Amino acid sequence: MNRRSAFRRLVAFAAGSPLFAQSAGVDAAADDPILGPINVHEFEELAKQRLDKLAYDFIAGGVEDELTLRANRDAYKRWFLVPRVMTDVSNVDISVEFLGLKLDAPIIIAPTGGKNLVLPNAESVMARAASASKTLICTATGVERVASEGLSVTWWSNTTGQRAKDAAQSYMRRMEDGGAKGIVITVDNQYQSNRDRNNRNRFDYGYMRDGVPKPGAPKPKPVNPARPAMWQPHTPNMTWDYIDWLRGAGKIPILLKGILAPEDAELGVKRGADAIIVSNHGGRQLDGVIATIDALPDVVDAVGGKVPVLMDGGIRRGSDILKALALGAKAVQVGRAPLWGLASFGQKGAERVLWMLAAELKLDMALAGVANLQSINRKMIRKV
Ligand SMILES: Cc1cc2nc3c(=O)[nH]c(=O)nc-3n(C[C@H](O)[C@H](O)[C@H](O)COP(=O)(O)O)c2cc1C
Repeated sequence: MNRRSAFRRLVAFAAGSPLFAQSAGVDAAADDPILGPINVHEFEELAKQRLDKLAYDFIAGGVEDELTLRANRDAYKRWFLVPRVMTDVSNVDISVEFLGLKLDAPIIIAPTGGKNLVLPNAESVMARAASASKTLICTATGVERVASEGLSVTWWSNTTGQRAKDAAQSYMRRMEDGGAKGIVITVDNQYQSNRDRNNRNRFDYGYMRDGVPKPGAPKPKPVNPARPAMWQPHTPNMTWDYIDWLRGAGKIPILLKGILAPEDAELGVKRGADAIIVSNHGGRQLDGVIATIDALPDVVDAVGGKVPVLMDGGIRRGSDILKALALGAKAVQVGRAPLWGLASFGQKGAERVLWMLAAELKLDMALAGVANLQSINRKMIRKV
């Protein structure tokens, strides 16, 4: 046997071995195109090539001038890690426990509506990726789609609220009975926001459900953009009482997603929220709001350890996650990153992206001298 055929045999053996599958995050032979993109940014490039422009813009885009969209990424560049050395990092444990959950990694799939623009029945496909990756998916389509297929998946139900107490309470009961492990209330989405890319593409929000329109299908008429946005109210009458409504109808944790002001974090905890999620909706709601990694430390201080604080926004690297954890986040949510995986290679692509982020986090922790999440603290990060 010459060296080349010996190498081929080795690759074939490795491809069939559990070790190989584990090393890729998905079961893939060495020449599988899924192993092409080497980071989340490259998954986005691939997704951009594969998606209809209207779908790519909907996912990638932010609101108006996209100041916050860019700030979410740029802000990581100003926070620098200060690693420790000479600690034993031969085993790095990135598992985390909170709100009755035990996750292999502190990385959760954020709620993202409109997945059907990527592929049909995409919420279920993403739920399968979550299940295979042993993580939690936060989803607005709730129990009906995710759990109905007999899939063993851990999920939170995401809502923008209901305008009346009765409706809120029946929602809470339905989700709790359906097996949701928590209710995530999106608090920054009182109205559909004014998204220039969607307006330019004459995006019809029905596409979120039905998928990309067929070629040649008539486009909706252009309209003054901000006005129809205001015509699409979600829950403009929602106040802190909404937490009481839900709490009166069920026991599962209630999480507030979209908190940026420390005062709101404090009020939320006082009103009974079980967790705070620092988020600006991935730069998709009010433009010009603070980047989430910058908002995080003040919120963590205001909450004072009473409940877990999570965050999302701009996470594309394990080191972004490490920075968030160092500033006090218990876990992070990722929105676009798994969608780029989904658009590139379906369920396996989403799994690969989740695995990549976890693998990067693990290595970054080792290089920063921390062997578990408990050892991460604010001394290891500085804003420069
Ligand atoms: C395509 C898309 C749809 C989204 N839909 C929702 C939604 O329905 N509810 C919600 O609370 N957040 C929604 N978000 C915001 C995400 O939950 C999350 O806050 C954000 O994507 C995090 O930023 P990242 O994409 O940079 O990770 C959406 C984000 C995207 C990209």
